[in-house]
Order: sequence, then structure tokens, then C-alpha cells
Amino acid sequence: MTGRFDPFAVLSLDDLRERHSAKWRHYPADVLPLWVAEMDAPLAAPIAEALQRLVATGDAGYPGDTPYREAFASFASDSWGWDPVVTRTRAAASVIAGYTDALVEAVPAGGTVVVTSPVYPPFYSYLQQAGLTVRESPLDANLRLDLGALDEALAGASGFLLCNPHNPGGTVHTRAELKAVAQLAARHGVQVVSDEIHAPLVYEDSTFVPYLSVDPRGIAVHAASKGWSLAAIPAALLVFGPDAGAGLATYDSGKHHGPTYWGAVAQTVAYSEGREWLADALASLDRNRHLLGSLLAEHVPAIRYHLPASTYLVWLDCRELGLGDDPAAVFLERGRVALNSGPTFGAGGAGHARINIATSPAILTEAVDRIAASL
Ligand SMILES: Cc1ncc(COP(=O)(O)O)c(C=O)c1O
Repeated sequence: MTGRFDPFAVLSLDDLRERHSAKWRHYPADVLPLWVAEMDAPLAAPIAEALQRLVATGDAGYPGDTPYREAFASFASDSWGWDPVVTRTRAAASVIAGYTDALVEAVPAGGTVVVTSPVYPPFYSYLQQAGLTVRESPLDANLRLDLGALDEALAGASGFLLCNPHNPGGTVHTRAELKAVAQLAARHGVQVVSDEIHAPLVYEDSTFVPYLSVDPRGIAVHAASKGWSLAAIPAALLVFGPDAGAGLATYDSGKHHGPTYWGAVAQTVAYSEGREWLADALASLDRNRHLLGSLLAEHVPAIRYHLPASTYLVWLDCRELGLGDDPAAVFLERGRVALNSGPTFGAGGAGHARINIATSPAILTEAVDRIAASL
């Protein structure tokens, strides 16, 4: 690894404790935080420089002619061999806003949207707040899609919010699985919305399959927010498949918030000039996912570790520790280390915890020491 840039080696623990973001401020200062999806890395240099230029010139207006959609289309083509149709993409304020708006437009009021649990908690909360009913279809024991369960859950539903790749745990759905999803959705007359925010973070030994490459009826939501850790300045792109029914027209007839100008600029630069940084970050995350496996095997072998195929949001099966439904609460109280609580991810979350490995090996090692010390 000589000479490679490691984005997670730049900031010390003291530097990180100067941050005022949720990850570093939600818990008291004696807690080591490895929970919410923020990276312990500086911004990619091209993004930082673009933002500095905006600040320096006071260029802080409404979104102008930033080639956000074109930059994404070029990234998608080069990364995944998929060519989204630029005229069928729409910019949204954030991924959550994008998938919520798309589903509200596609699903009748009060209608049912299926999610595959355990899954990112805002898959429930925002849809419920928007008046939709969320129905769970559990993943199998290996965190893969259970197509039989999905078939049953889709009966009578109007929407399916797919997480591709899946958070938590990083499952990368295969082309065969996604084709089966598309067939089920067509049979049940269900609109699939695929949240693909984690797509840039797929490790080399797996292949990301864009949902729209198997289902022309689908709608996908993309963003650079996770790959380049840009939660502070969100933006997202909805991509409507060529046969997404009335999808695009219905969406266009509604009122939707778009991204801020700075959000669109940051993500445009990420897709076009941030690719080397992303490759470096992924190489460090790849090292970390294996490091976590060996640290747990050595210090807490009772935790079943699921090696992620993508993302830095790793799912830990702690049931053998006998700590009850919420082991993260025990790690926090006794070990002063913050992970996400498994039960917040819905059915299948009890006895589990999610850990964020987008940090330095030293912090990861300290976290596992604290987990071990809490037992
Ligand atoms: C699957 C998934 N979707 C959406 C988001 C949030 O996206 P945004 O901040 O653009 O709403 C996250 C953040 O971690 C996520 O994991």
C-alpha cells in the first residue's frame, strides 16, 4: 500500500472531536462514536477547492447551470456500464426527499410500500409521515433478498422501496435477484423505487447492478452523499426508467424541493473529479472491513461478523452474547462506544448492532477493545 493516499489517516482523534456534526456531538466526549453514516475523513480535494471558490466569491445563490445530471450520467457509464437517460433524471433535495416524493406520487394515499428489513430506519419514518403504510419483507439469514417472502409481501402493495446496495450490511444484489424483483413487481403491479446511494461504495470483489438496467419500469435514486461523505450539503438525482409509466409526468406535476446550489456543485465535482479520492477511500475501507473481521475474531469471537460487499455500515450479529434486544445500548453504557441499535432497523434487528468503519484503524481497534471491555 506504499504511496497510496489514505483519507482516514489525515485527521487525528483530537481533530475529529473538534467537529460539530451529529456523529461527534450526539454523545458525551468520553464516548467513541462509530454510528451515523459520516466518514472520519477530510473532503476530497477537488470538492473542497470548488466549495472554497464559491465561498471566496460569495457565489451563494440559487442552483444555476451546474452539469450535475451529466456528471452523474458519465460516472454511471464509466463505473457500471449503465447509461441513464439525462432527460429522464430530476434533481432532488436529498435521497430521502427523492424516494419519499417518488413514492407519494406513485402510490395511492394510504397505500402500502414494501421494504426489506432490517433496513435504514428512515425507510419507515418518512413514508409513514407521508401517510403511506410500510410493510416489511424480511431478508434471509445471509441478508439476501428472500424472493418467496417478497412475493407474498408485494401482494396488494403499490410500491417497493429497494435498498441497492443494502444498508445495513452492504449486500450487493445480483442481476438474477434484481431481474426476479422486476418480474414480481410487474406481476403485482408494484412501482419499484431503488435507493442506490451506496452504489459508489462497492468493493472490488462484487459488482453493482443498477436496478434500471434490469427494469425499465423502475425509478432509481442516486447521490454522491455517501461515497464522498457530503451529508452537510445534500443533493440527489431521481432517474425514471423508460417505461416508468406515468412516473415522470406525475412527478413533474407535483411540487418538489431541489438541491441547494452548493449541494449540486459538490456532487457534480465528486462524480467528475473525485474518482481518485473515491478509489483511495474504498481501498482503506476494504482494509478496514477485513481488519474488523480479524479484531472481532480475536477479541469478541461470539459476535457473528458479516463481511460487507459494499458500504462501511457493517452489521454485527451479537445474539450469542446474550445482551438482549439492543446490544448497542450495553456497549454504550459499559464500554462508552456508540454503534447504531439493531432494533431501529425493523424486523430482524433485535440482538444486532451496526458499526461504521469509515475511520482509522486505530479508532476501529479502540472500538473493538471497548466492545470487548463491556462484556
Ligand atoms: C440507504 C440510505 N438512503 C438515504 C440516506 C440519506 O440520504 P440523504 O441524506 O441524501 O437523504 C442514507 C444515509 O445514510 C442511506 O444509508
